[in-house]
Amino acid sequence: AGPCDLYASGGTPCIAAHSTTRALYGAFTGSLYQVKRGSDNTTTNIAPLAAGGVANAGSQDQFCASTTCLITIIYDQSGRGNHLTQAPKGAFSGPESNGADNLASAIGAPVTLNGQKAYGVFVSPGTGYRNNAVKGSATGDAPEGMYAVLDGTHYNGACCFDYGNAETNNLDTGNGHMEAIYYGDSTTWGSGAGSGPWIMADLENGLFSGANPKNNAGDPSITSRFVTAVIKGGPNKWAIRGANGASGSLSTYYNGARPTVAGYNPMSKEGAIILGIGGDNSVGGQGTFYEGVMTTGYPSDATENAVQDNIVAAKYATTSLTSGSALSVGSSISLRLTTPNFDTRYLAHTAAAVNTQVVTSSSSTALKQQASWTVRAGLGNGGCFSFESKDTAGSFLRHNNFELKVNANDGSKGFKEDATFCPQMGLNGQGSSIRAWGYPTRFIRHYINAGYIASNGGVHAFDAASSFNNDASFVVGTGFA
Ligand code: AHR
Ligand code: AHR
Repeated sequence: AGPCDLYASGGTPCIAAHSTTRALYGAFTGSLYQVKRGSDNTTTNIAPLAAGGVANAGSQDQFCASTTCLITIIYDQSGRGNHLTQAPKGAFSGPESNGADNLASAIGAPVTLNGQKAYGVFVSPGTGYRNNAVKGSATGDAPEGMYAVLDGTHYNGACCFDYGNAETNNLDTGNGHMEAIYYGDSTTWGSGAGSGPWIMADLENGLFSGANPKNNAGDPSITSRFVTAVIKGGPNKWAIRGANGASGSLSTYYNGARPTVAGYNPMSKEGAIILGIGGDNSVGGQGTFYEGVMTTGYPSDATENAVQDNIVAAKYATTSLTSGSALSVGSSISLRLTTPNFDTRYLAHTAAAVNTQVVTSSSSTALKQQASWTVRAGLGNGGCFSFESKDTAGSFLRHNNFELKVNANDGSKGFKEDATFCPQMGLNGQGSSIRAWGYPTRFIRHYINAGYIASNGGVHAFDAASSFNNDASFVVGTGFA
C-alpha cells in the first residue's frame, strides 16, 4: 500500500498526490512526472517501474542523455487531475521573461529508494509550481491534512519554500488564505527552537510555529537529511508534526488552537496548491521536494503515523551527485574549453573576474596560477566540490547573480553554496560539465570569454541555447601551477 491508501482507509483520502520518486498508491502505474529536454524541447513522461513502485529514473537518464532536462509537470496520482505545472507571475514575478517561475532541473536531487535511483524536485530561488484550479481541495475553514518528504539540509531564510493550500489568484488576499507546509530558517514571522531550519505553517502573512505568532520552543530545529513534514488544520484546531524521513516516528511539535491574530479563525482557505513558493509567488525560498499529498478531512495521528512508517519503508537514501572523471580533493586542476576554435583557452581569473585565457607551458607563472584551481570538498555540500584559487588562498570560484567570480570565502552559508559545483559527464561528450549545486539547471559556461552559470535557453544572453553543450563542457587536466 502507499500513503494515499492509508489516508483513504483512515477516512481522509488524498485529493492530490505528487511525487517524482515513487507511486503513492499501491496500484498506481500512471505517469509520475513529465520532463522536457533542451536538445529538441520534446517531452516524455516518467512512470513507476512497477505498480506502486519507484520512478523509472533510467528512462529519464536515457531521454536526457547529452542534454539538459527540466521537470515540466508533476502529475497528481489521485485521479482528480490536480497536476502541478510552472507557476505563473503573481504579486511577485519569477525569473522567466513573462514573470513565470523557473522549472526545476530533472537531475538536481538524485536519491535512492530501496536502492533504486530516483530524482526529487530541487527548488532553487526562482523555481515554483502551482495549480489554481484544484478539484476537491479544502476551502474556507474546511479540514485538510498534508505531508511532504523534503531534504532537511536544503533550505534558506527567504520567503517561502512551501507545499500546500494557497490563493487561486497568485496574490496575497489576506490572513488565513493559505495553509501550507513551510520549511526553512526564516525568522521574519515565527520561529522554533535553536537556529532552524523548522517546519512551520504558512497561513498567509505569517509562518507559524504554533499559536503564538512569534516563537514556539516546541518546534525543533531539524537535523536529519530526510524530513517528513506534516501540517493539518480544521475548525478551531491545527497541528505541526515532523520526523526523520528515513527512520523513527512522527512527533507533534504543535497541536492546538488557531492563532488569535484576526483572520486565522475561521480560516479562508482558497484551495490552490503551490510548491516551492509563497502564496503571492514570493520566489526566494529554496528546498527539495520528494513526495507529498493533500487530503480532504483532518487525518488522525494514527493515519499519519502509518504514513510515516510507509515513508521509512520506502528507504530514502543519498546517492552520488557527480559523474564522469573523478576529481581528487587537494589536487591542482585546469579546465580547458572544448568549444571548437576556443579549445586552447582555459577557465581563469583576473582578480575577481572569471574569464578564459590561452595558457601554455611557456606562459608566465602568474597566468599559470590564474588558470589553476585547487580541488576542495564542496563547501556547501560535501558530495560536490569547490575550486580554490591557486594564487589567492581562501578565495574560491563562486557565482553571484549568475556570473562567475573569484571571491574570499566569507564563511556564510550563502557563499559556501554559491561556491559548490557538481561535475558530471560532459554534455558534448568531452570532459565534464560542472553544475552549480544550488542551481542545477545551470552549468559553468564561457560566453564571450567570461564565466557564468548558465541554463540551456534561459533568459540571459549567456543562457543562449546555441553552442550550450560545447560552452559548458571542459576537459579537466593537471593544474599549470
Ligand atoms: O505568509 C508568508 C508569505 O507572506 C506568503 O507565502 C506570501 O503570500 C506572503 O508574502
Ligand atoms: O548567482 C545566483 C545568486 O545570485 C547567488 O546564489 C547569490 O549569491 C546571488 O544573489
